[in-house]
Amino acid sequence: MLVSRLTINVARKSLRTEADTFEKCQGGPFPENAAHECCGFDKMELRVNQAPYKGAALAGTIDLGDLTVNRLGFGAMRLCGDSAWGRPRDREHTNRVLHRAVELGVNFIDTADSYGPEANETMISQALYPYPPGLVIATKGGLVRPNRRSWVENGRPDHLRRAIEGSLQRLRLERIDLYQLHAPDPNVPFAESVGALADLRRSGKIHQIGLSNVTVAQLEVARSITPIVSVQNPYNLRNRTSEDVLAACERLGIAFLPWYPLGGKRGLKALKIKQVASRRGLTHAALSLAWLLAKSPVMLPIPGTRSIDHLEDNVRAAALKLAPEDFDDLE
Ligand SMILES: NC(=O)c1ccc[n+]([C@@H]2O[C@H](COP(=O)([O-])OP(=O)(O)OC[C@H]3O[C@@H](n4cnc5c(N)ncnc54)[C@H](OP(=O)(O)O)[C@@H]3O)[C@@H](O)[C@H]2O)c1
Repeated sequence: MLVSRLTINVARKSLRTEADTFEKCQGGPFPENAAHECCGFDKMELRVNQAPYKGAALAGTIDLGDLTVNRLGFGAMRLCGDSAWGRPRDREHTNRVLHRAVELGVNFIDTADSYGPEANETMISQALYPYPPGLVIATKGGLVRPNRRSWVENGRPDHLRRAIEGSLQRLRLERIDLYQLHAPDPNVPFAESVGALADLRRSGKIHQIGLSNVTVAQLEVARSITPIVSVQNPYNLRNRTSEDVLAACERLGIAFLPWYPLGGKRGLKALKIKQVASRRGLTHAALSLAWLLAKSPVMLPIPGTRSIDHLEDNVRAAALKLAPEDFDDLE
């Protein structure tokens, strides 16, 4: 890939509309004088593709209630240490990954208080605050981490109330744009957990509510209590166990965020993906994401990576259009 390096000094106050900013950042070759108006970060080094490259906006947009984001997001979990535990060894690199995501038009970042735990949210605010206009940070609560190997549900209303205060503080926000219940707690009536989030929404701490790791029946229970704008469940080329939830999201016109969208390393090695990828000269990851985007208009993939090269590869998927025979072969 042909890349040039520019050092830019960015004036935060000169931020333009996101669309304008995005055009300038992505419409290569990069005009040097435009760099000063891009992206809102002080003194940072940009790697700019020479080829015309429009980034995440090419995936189109999706509405999360009254919020509109580009339909290719970024999952920040991998920026922690292994097993989503601890802080990254190289904080500067983490900052660069997050900055690069925003430069590439990603305006939806998924995190959770249990990633780190807590460290992931802090990394995001340290890298990106004050946030560029239009950036939606979606966090989650309802899981706790007694140690590196454990993820334990805690959907008690008092825990969720405390959890959101922590997230607000770490993200340096007065209101969370999208707060997702990370998982139903088998020891707490689901309606109580959702009811607590509905109360927090009424009090102004949450703008929109999402769910994660739920069934269609749980989605319906939640919707009877409060508006739900998204569901985040595992889904990728190899794991389609949430097909019924995806169909429900389509019916309801709410976003479906497939987690583990690349199927991790194992998914990337699936034979049929390999065959279509090699036929089209694409990486397996870009092909997997293009398939997800083509699969449903409510799909909002949130691939995760610590690598800038992988991030760029993933965002490239936003521009890919699968031929019908490719899509059929991947079904
Ligand atoms: N709601 C939930 O319960 C839940 C659970 C898990 C995850 N999530 C969310 O979903 C997001 C994504 O899930 P995930 O990170 O587990 O899975 P993923 O995005 O499917 O896969 C990430 C893995 O793929 C690699 N990768 C990424 N881009 C690549 C590329 N272009 N080429 C080759 N390898 C690539 C990454 O390694 P490198 O770092 O080396 O690129 C990493 O090992 C998370 O960040 C998190 O926000 C939610």
